[in-house]
Amino acid sequence: MKDSFISYVNLSKQWKEERKDLLKLLDQTLAEGHYVGGDKVVNLEKNIAKYLNVKYVISLNSGTDALTLALHCLGLKKNDEVITPPNSFIASTAVIAHLGLKPKFVDVLDDQNIDPNQIEKNITKKTKAIMPVHLTGRICRMKEILKIAKKYNLKVIEDSAQAFGSKLFNRYAGTFGHVGCFSTHPLKNFNSVGDGGFMVTNKKSIYDRARKLRNHGTKDRNVIDEFGYVSRLDTIQAVVLDYRLKRVNGLIKKRRKNASLYRKYLTKKIFIPHERKDEFNTYHTFVVQTSKRDQLKKYLIKKGIETAIHYPIPIHLQPSAKKIGHKVGDFIKTEEQSKRILTLPIHQYLKESDIFKISQIINNFFEKYE
Ligand SMILES: Cc1ncc(COP(=O)(O)O)c(C=O)c1O
Repeated sequence: MKDSFISYVNLSKQWKEERKDLLKLLDQTLAEGHYVGGDKVVNLEKNIAKYLNVKYVISLNSGTDALTLALHCLGLKKNDEVITPPNSFIASTAVIAHLGLKPKFVDVLDDQNIDPNQIEKNITKKTKAIMPVHLTGRICRMKEILKIAKKYNLKVIEDSAQAFGSKLFNRYAGTFGHVGCFSTHPLKNFNSVGDGGFMVTNKKSIYDRARKLRNHGTKDRNVIDEFGYVSRLDTIQAVVLDYRLKRVNGLIKKRRKNASLYRKYLTKKIFIPHERKDEFNTYHTFVVQTSKRDQLKKYLIKKGIETAIHYPIPIHLQPSAKKIGHKVGDFIKTEEQSKRILTLPIHQYLKESDIFKISQIINNFFEKYE
């Protein structure tokens, strides 16, 4: 790989930076011989709760399981409908389907997040919950969503997998609804070195139930209250996360700086959703939109710049979603965006000169082909 190549993520660099500290912590943990649960997991949960200003945190082995347990704990029943956008990572809808619930898709706004103005007309007698997804680190229109939820007595599960640390009106993503669900997958800003996740809530009953469910449903060692799951966060992941929690604000600051540099250097010919007043975006991804997406992506890779597409096929058009019964044209905005969106590198190891270089190449592309 050429030195000048700009990768979309750089996890090796993160490891290089943290290696000395982490190896020491991991060595200590492995020597102690406590690999599942224990004080270190409890400690992490307490620290996340403090960071997010929320009462309870239940660490889990993935963001997908956080969503599953959230739906489970909120007591949703077979065939209940859950309103959610069709342009998310597949897991948001998969968990709804797995529990025998019905995903009810609502299209999105220009910024890729669920359109609150289209929620109300999709509510039926069977609607029991709304699952907004804070895609790309951008928090949804929570004020409007909570108002609708209150009016129709709906549960709100925030898929905050991509939005750890994001805020709206100075309140953290995941803490607006009944439950917030997070992923600590290696590609997330607050990341483990393997799968991981957690859910947050202010309700003790949800906390108690989720804690049981993540551990086979065990009340104590011998009594199983209800059939559960194996969804605990490994102790070594908890140790890594606790270490990284102290550094995450620095990383967010870098990403926000990179986003502002893109805004400064990129041509106006490419669409960048703006950051709303009162919003604090942590830029899990930096997604721009252009009708020349495929051509631009090829051009960039030729120039040594790696990009990604999140996501090229909307969920309602995935083969796995066939049974839900949608067709092309059902969610216009989502479908249009799937052809226009391009995720640019924004990781914390990029320098201003990298962002400048990427922007210049993109600007040259538009001068050449427009
Ligand atoms: C929006 C969204 N929801 C859910 C998930 C699932 O999280 P995990 O991969 O930790 O299971 C992800 C992770 O990629 C995600 O981006």
